[in-house]
This record gives sequence, C-alpha cells and structure tokens, in this order.
Amino acid sequence: MSRIEQLIDAMTLAEKLGQLTMTASSYTVTGPIIAGDSTDAIRAGTIGNLLNMVGSGPVGEMQRLAVEESRLGIPLLIGLDIIHGHRTLFPIPLAEAALFDPQAWELTAREAATEAASDGLAMTFAPMLDISRDPRWGRTAEGPGEDAWLGARMAQAKVRGFQGHDLAAHDSLAAVAKHFCAYGPVTAGRDYASVDISERTLREVHVPPFAAAVAAGVAAIMPAFTDLAGIPMTANKALLRHYLRDQLGFDGVLVSDYNAIGELLRHGVAADLPEAAAQALKAGVDIDMMADAYRRGLPIAMDRGLVIMEEIDESVWRVLRLKERLGLFDDPYRRGTNPETAAVLAGRRRLARSVAARAMVLLKNEQHALPLAGSIRRLGVIGPLADAADEMGGPWGAAGVTASHVSVVTGLRQGLPETELLYAAGVSINGADRAGIAGAVGICDAADAVLLCLGEAANMSGEAASRANPNLPGQQRALAEAVFERARARAIPVIVILFSGRPLMVPWLAAKADALLAAWFLGSEAGNAIADVVTGRVAPSGRTPITWPRAVGQVPLFFAQRPSGRPADAQDHFTSKYLDLPNEPLYPFGHGLTYTRFTLADLRVTPTSVGEADTIQVQVEVTNAGACAGEETVFLFSHDLVASVARPVLELKGFAKITLQPGESASLSLSLPASQLRFLGPDLSSIFEPGEVEILVGPCADRSRLLVATVRLRA
Ligand code: NOJ
Repeated sequence: MSRIEQLIDAMTLAEKLGQLTMTASSYTVTGPIIAGDSTDAIRAGTIGNLLNMVGSGPVGEMQRLAVEESRLGIPLLIGLDIIHGHRTLFPIPLAEAALFDPQAWELTAREAATEAASDGLAMTFAPMLDISRDPRWGRTAEGPGEDAWLGARMAQAKVRGFQGHDLAAHDSLAAVAKHFCAYGPVTAGRDYASVDISERTLREVHVPPFAAAVAAGVAAIMPAFTDLAGIPMTANKALLRHYLRDQLGFDGVLVSDYNAIGELLRHGVAADLPEAAAQALKAGVDIDMMADAYRRGLPIAMDRGLVIMEEIDESVWRVLRLKERLGLFDDPYRRGTNPETAAVLAGRRRLARSVAARAMVLLKNEQHALPLAGSIRRLGVIGPLADAADEMGGPWGAAGVTASHVSVVTGLRQGLPETELLYAAGVSINGADRAGIAGAVGICDAADAVLLCLGEAANMSGEAASRANPNLPGQQRALAEAVFERARARAIPVIVILFSGRPLMVPWLAAKADALLAAWFLGSEAGNAIADVVTGRVAPSGRTPITWPRAVGQVPLFFAQRPSGRPADAQDHFTSKYLDLPNEPLYPFGHGLTYTRFTLADLRVTPTSVGEADTIQVQVEVTNAGACAGEETVFLFSHDLVASVARPVLELKGFAKITLQPGESASLSLSLPASQLRFLGPDLSSIFEPGEVEILVGPCADRSRLLVATVRLRA
C-alpha cells in the first residue's frame, strides 16, 4: 500500500473531511468572515488546509500543530491569493498582459512564488484566467484581457512560473487556475451574477486558457462562483467531472471558491447544506473553501444515501497526493525556512520596476508631449493619484508591503532631481469636494508642463467591484477640465497618467490630453517606472490586451466579433451600427504607441497552399521610421473567409517583438502551424476545413492598419 492509501485506511470520517476543508485565518480578509480559531481543529486533524495566513512564523507554528500534535501528522496545505506578487508587487495581471511577453509573465510568477514560499506558503489561488470583454466587471483587472489565445499563452507561462520545474522544490507553489469557467460574461458586468452563453462561446473563448493550464500541468483549479445557464459551476458535474477531468485530462485538485458550496443554497439548487455538499463532491470538488459544508453536511448526506465513502476517499486521495507532490510529507517545513537575502529582494524590485515600465500603454502622444522635454524646469504634478502610494498595488494587494510602494511624486523626485515639482491633489479620488481645484489649477501658471494623475481607486476594480459607469469617479473630471483650460491658455502640455483596473470610458479625456498613458496599477515600483517612462529613460512598449470602448453602450466590444450580414455602412441605414456613436472603439486591442514610429511592409506568407501538417511562414519588413530606438510588437491574425460556421473577423494567432534603432529595418518572422486554423464545426467537433484564409499582420486589431495575404487550406 502507498503512503496515501495507508493514511486513508487509518483515517476516521472526521479526519477525512478535515482534509477536504480549507479555512481562513484572519491575516487578510478576502471574503465574508465565517470561521473562528482553527488551532484546536488542526490538532484534532479535522482541518487540513488553510488560507489567508502569512509569515513564516505563524505558518510554521500551524504546520507544527498539524505535523507534531495531530494523530496522523498530516501536513497542512496553506494557500493565499498571490495574484501579482507577494510582498513585492508586480503590475496587476491585466497590465502584465500588456507586455505580450511570455518570458516576463513566467519570471514574475517565479519571483512571486519564491517570495511567497519563503514565507511558508505552498499554494496560490492564481492564475486568474477569466476572459473579460466587459470593463464593467471589476475582475477584468485580475485576468489576461479579452482574448482566449492570449489567455492561453499567459496561462502556460504563469503555471510554469508558479510551479517551477519541480512542485516539491522549496520555492515552488501549487498554482490554482481560476475561475473555471466563463466567469467573465456575468450578466451586465455585475460580479457574481448569472452567466448564460452558448456552448460554442464557452468552448472557443472561455475554455482554452484552462485547457492550456491543464496541459502545462496545473496542480489545482477553482470553479467559478457563478452558474452557467442555471447550473452553478461548483455543482457542475458535466463541466467539472466529465469535461475538465475526463476530456481535458485534469487529474489535480478542485478547490471551491470562498463559501461557494454554501452558496448553492442561495443559487436555489440545494435545499440544505448536506445536499449542497453532496452535489459539489459528486461534481468532483475536492476542497471546500470556507463553507464548512463538507464537515457539517457530508456525514448527513451519507446517512441519506446521497454520497458514499468511496467518493469521499477519492477526493481525500487527490488532496493527499497534492501534499505529497508538494514535498510536504517529506519535509513540511521546507518552505518558510530559507530567508531571502537583501540582494535577492533588491533584484526583485528591479524586475518589478522594469516590468511596470513595460506594462504601461501609451494611448496617445501628440506634439511629442512625451517624453518630457529636457528644458522643463518646473513640472506640475496634479491629481489624487499623484501621491497615492497605497493605491499603487491595485485591488489584490495580498501581502504586498504598502509602505514600500513608490508613488508618482516620489518616483519623479528621484528621477528628475533637477526639476522643481509643483504638486497638488486638487480633489480626492471619489469625493464630492471641489474646494481644492482652484489651488491645484493655479500650478499651471508656474509649470512648464503638467502631469495629471487621475483614475480609479485600487478598490474600485477587482472582486465585487463592478461599475456601471467605468469612468473617472468623484470630481476628477471637473479638476481635469479646469487644468486643461488653464494649461491651454499658457500653451503648456498636459500629460494624463491614468490609473485603472480596466479600460475607462473617457473619450473626452482622450480628446483633450496631449498625452495619455494607461498606468493600470503597476505595483510596488509604480512611481519609479512611471518616472522612467515619462523621462524617456525607458520607451513605452505595452499594448492594450483589451479594447477600450467609447461608452458603456458599446459593451461587449472586442476584436474577435463575428461578421454581421449587414456590416456597418454610413450610406445605408439598415446596417449594423449606432445612431449616436461610431462602432469603432476608442482604442483597439493591441494599440500602444512608443517614442518612435514603425512602418510595416512587404508581407510574405509561404507556402500559399497548406495541408494541416504544414507550417505557414509569415515574414514582414519592420522599419523604425522615427528618431529614437524602440520596440515594436507585431500581431498575427487570421480570418477564415468562408466556413461552415461564421468565423470571427479577426482571430489572434501570434505576436512577435523586435527592437530597432532609428532608421533600421529588419525582417520579422512568425510561424503559424496550419493546425491552429482548426475550429469547432457545426457540431462543435474540431475540424480542419479546406478554403481560403486571410493572414493579417500589423500593429493592433484595427483592420485598416493590417497587411493582408491569403493562404489556401487543402484537405
Ligand atoms: C474569492 C475569489 O473569487 C477568489 O478568486 C479567491 O481566490 C478567494 N476568494 C480566496 O481569497
């Protein structure tokens, strides 16, 4: 008998249910507070997993109770939301997606894992892989943006980064891909609301990032809180057990979301806790996070004949196997006993700074407003986010050390020691008071340029932070309008640094700003990274991983839409358009400027006729036509012109980056295995269909800016 089988053999029902239970300590609060002190239960072996506990001291002490004082000595599994860094925060995931750099995605996850593991943790509830096409949904901040293919690349990189080469290593964490599945399209962008999408959209858009995580060996998956067409994911046997486990081959642990099993009652699919617990267990959910439904409900469910011991044992086996894979049985203290050196911490801060600088997206830059001219002696720094170190970490600060976050003002002081900074907040982020506006605007009279730092508060995105009007809150528009007016009168540039966990719908701001820099939430080194970019020490290179709509009425707005039978035509009334707004977004997916200009020419696609086993080679000439060095990101899209199922007008299939000196040209190559042009046919089975496919290459998902060639697919 294996160690795990022996243990299961020796366990009481209460001990088994303990292994299926995860309960929170009060270090950090990520949901309703439910459980009290768990130390006695750990000693009794009736709690096997913890969340929201930090610090090698407390973590080690809990582990000691489990290992040394419980009857069977089974180590605890201790997890936390390490979403974009642990103590050192990197940019929020949406911002990191803007890097379009799998190596960087992996590296930040590796660093976060190393830092968290040195704090005693063994599991992170990340990566969050929910595709979002609705900026009202606050959790857009936590994910990879709007595209499934991009989400799948990020999934692989993050799983590799968190888990490392060996899950048992002292610096590896078990990753939890979440939230399976289709949490993003909640009704009207309202968090936790019902989801009702087609089976095709589920498979084409929402499953691929999870399939990629499974292929990368993700240790665990968390079902979404939401229901899908009436079946809550926590009890969704068809998707969890039959699809995820049986078809995709996922053999890891399913850990419920916070109290999600208890919430099956509110969904109205279970009459009481035993029923809810039985449904979740039968669907394949192994760990009950925070509902205490398994401990309280499963014994009764067994009496009622709703579940049998073998079903409980199956889940216990999976949990114990994960603990074994994490090396916890061999050395439960392997994490948390390797304090990090100052040099390691400093290196991590440098990484946070460079990734933050690369995550910013320069949405607009007129008259060379950025980088700041060397002649600027006095710089106005205005707005409620200018000196707001606490906000820089974004909505999932986790254990981030807020005290060490760098604000814009602090970063600029260090980055521009010769420049006098004239600072005023003017207004608070979300308050009603306008009294400070006049004073702040007065700064424009003395300044040579203004940096206007506006946006959302960190807690206005993330979980339970949907916004019906995702624009500038409070009195920020009044402040901005007054600053624009005064700055215009003096002909000084106004550069807007916009903080948000989502695209904000601010066409008026985009029209008036001389430069608009999306800074999302950049983490611990935000201010230094912003200083690097505005001074020109680092040229911006981020590309938006999500479309920026002009207005809520355009939502959902995404590049991979299907064609209409009546495409928009200004001359023809009966076509697909609005009477009061253009169809086009404010900024398309992939948009992002830098301090130079690139041109693309001479697209070559070979061979022009391919079978499924072939690879399409795509080449394009990229020229740096501007006056300074810069990095260009080139996107590769496909469009299947005539197919048995209408295909999206653009499908992302690749991207590549190139750095060029002024005047330099180079040929950029991308390969596209023809098999990636498969799609789900009318009956949802994957097919490779003969016919013409456009290959489109360019700087963003604006079709008018793409070079096009055609390949023929042969059967
Ligand atoms: C609820 C969130 O939905 C989930 O993403 C998170 O991991 C858990 N709370 C634990 O904090």
